[in-house]
Amino acid sequence: MKPIQILVIDLGSQYTLIIERTLRELGYRSAVLPPEQSKKWLISHKPNAIILSGGSFSVHLLDSPRPPDKILTMGIPILGICYGMQWLATELGGHVITSQDKKEYGKATIVHNKKSNLFENIKGKQIVWASHGDSIDVLPKGFRVLAKSSNNQTIEAIGNSTRKIWGLQFHPEVTHTENGKIILQNFLKKISHCQTDWAPKDIITNIQQTVRNTIGNQKAIIGFSGGVDSSTLSAVIAPSLGKQLLAIGIDTGALRKYEIKEMKTNAKATGVNLKIINASRRFQKALRGLTHSEKKRQAFKKLYVKILEEAAKQYNAKFIIQGSLATDFIESGKVGKAVLIKSHHNIGNQWHLTEIHPFGNLFKYEVRALAQELKLPKSISERQPFPGPGLFIRIVGTPVTLPKLAILKEADATVTKILKKRGVYKKLAQLVVGLIGVKTVGIKGDGRSYEYPILVRGVQTRDFMTVSGFDFPPKIKKEIEKTVTKHARINRVWWCSNDKPPATTELE
Ligand code: XMP
Repeated sequence: MKPIQILVIDLGSQYTLIIERTLRELGYRSAVLPPEQSKKWLISHKPNAIILSGGSFSVHLLDSPRPPDKILTMGIPILGICYGMQWLATELGGHVITSQDKKEYGKATIVHNKKSNLFENIKGKQIVWASHGDSIDVLPKGFRVLAKSSNNQTIEAIGNSTRKIWGLQFHPEVTHTENGKIILQNFLKKISHCQTDWAPKDIITNIQQTVRNTIGNQKAIIGFSGGVDSSTLSAVIAPSLGKQLLAIGIDTGALRKYEIKEMKTNAKATGVNLKIINASRRFQKALRGLTHSEKKRQAFKKLYVKILEEAAKQYNAKFIIQGSLATDFIESGKVGKAVLIKSHHNIGNQWHLTEIHPFGNLFKYEVRALAQELKLPKSISERQPFPGPGLFIRIVGTPVTLPKLAILKEADATVTKILKKRGVYKKLAQLVVGLIGVKTVGIKGDGRSYEYPILVRGVQTRDFMTVSGFDFPPKIKKEIEKTVTKHARINRVWWCSNDKPPATTELE
C-alpha cells in the first residue's frame, strides 16, 4: 500500500473524523493525529498535505492546542480550518478577535475571489457552514483575503500561494457547505498534488493483513451482535483466521424479539463460528434498581467485559476483536479533546486481553460499503444499528425489569412489522422504540389502566454524528397507535421527532 499522503492534525473538533471521512469519499486515505504526535509522524512520513482541524478553543487561551511550529517551515501545503486557520493567522503575525457581530453559527453566504486555486471551478457566491466565536481582523504578512461573508464581511478564507498556506473560517468537510468537497479537492489535487489511494478492496486487504500480523498463531474472540459492524468484520477476518477465531454472542435479555435468530443467520452468512452465551439473569442482577443512564451503561460494560473474558479464557484466546466505529470513539470522548457524550459499551474497557478495533476509523456507511464489496446479504449490509446495551437503554426513567422488557419487546416487534409492511422501515437509518418511566392513566375495556407509554422514534442520517428526526405519515401513526395499544399493558404511544443535536439517536 502507498504511504499516507495527508496528515490531519486534530485540534479538538467534533468534526475531525468527518474531515477524514470526507477525504475518503474523495478517494484519499489520511492519518489523524493529535498535535503531540504529529511532529514525529511528519518527519518520518513527509506527507503531501497537512490539514489543521477546527476546535472549540480560542487562540488567546494559554492551554489551547498548538500544532508543531515545524509545519510552517517544511514547505508542505497547509489548509487550516476554523480554529486551525486562526492558529495559522496568529502564528504568522496576524490577529484574531472575539467580536459579537462576526460570530457565526450555522449557514453563511460567502463571496470569493475567483482567481484563487482553492476556489477553482466554484461560482462567486456560495453557502457554507460556519461555527465560530473568534475571527481574523488582521492578516499575516504576505496573505490575501480570498473570501468574505456577504452580510457581515467576516474574513472567510485567506491564502498565501508562495508559502502554500491556506485558511478557511468555515467547515468544508460538512455536507451543509455546498462546495466543500470541491474546495478540499482543489487543495489536495491541484495545490498538494495528492493521488487517490482509498478503495474498499484495499481496506479489506489491509485489515486482513494487520489482524493476521497482530494475532500470529494465537487465538482471538470477536464480540458478535449480528449487526452490520461485527458481521462485516467477521466476514473480513474469518476466512484467514479459521479456527483461530470464535465469535461470541451474548443474550443479555435486552435483545429485540427476533435478535438471537438473526444473530445465528448472520453468523452463518459470514462464515464465522458462533457461540451464544445466555447471560440474561446476570444482566438483570447487575442492572437491578438502576435508572441513571451512565450508571446503567457502566454496569452493562462491566459485565459485558467479564463475560467475554470468561469466554476468551475457555477458548484460550489472547485477543478480543471488536467492530467499534469512529463514531463510537468520538462520542465516548476518546478522540483528541472531544468530550464524553455517552459511554459506548465496547469502548474504553479494561481488558486482560489485547483489544483490537480494526474498524476504529470507519463510519457506518463505509462498513456498509465493505459489506457490499464482500457480497454479504442485505440483511447485513442494510441492517439498522442496535446498541450493545439494547433495550436496557430504551427503558428510561424507571428500573429495567423482566415484565417491562417483555412489554417493550412486543411493542418493538409490532412497530417494526407495521413499518416494514408499509415500506417505511427502509427509509429509516434507525428505529427506536422505548418505554418511558412515567405512568399515565388510560382506559382498557371498562376499567382504568395506569401504565408506561411507549415511545416511537425514527431517524435519518448518514453517519449518526448528526441525525434528523423522522415525521411518520399520519395514517401510519394511527395504525401503530391502534395496534400497539391492543397490548394489555400499553395505553399510549408517544412520538419523538427531535434532531441530533440537541437530542441523540438513543434515549440514553
Ligand atoms: P446516539 O444515541 O449516540 O447513537 O446518537 C449513535 C449510534 O450509536 C448507537 N449506540 C451504540 N452502539 N454501543 C453500540 O454498539 C453502545 O453503547 C451504543 N450507544 C449508542 C446508537 O444506537 C446509534 O446507532
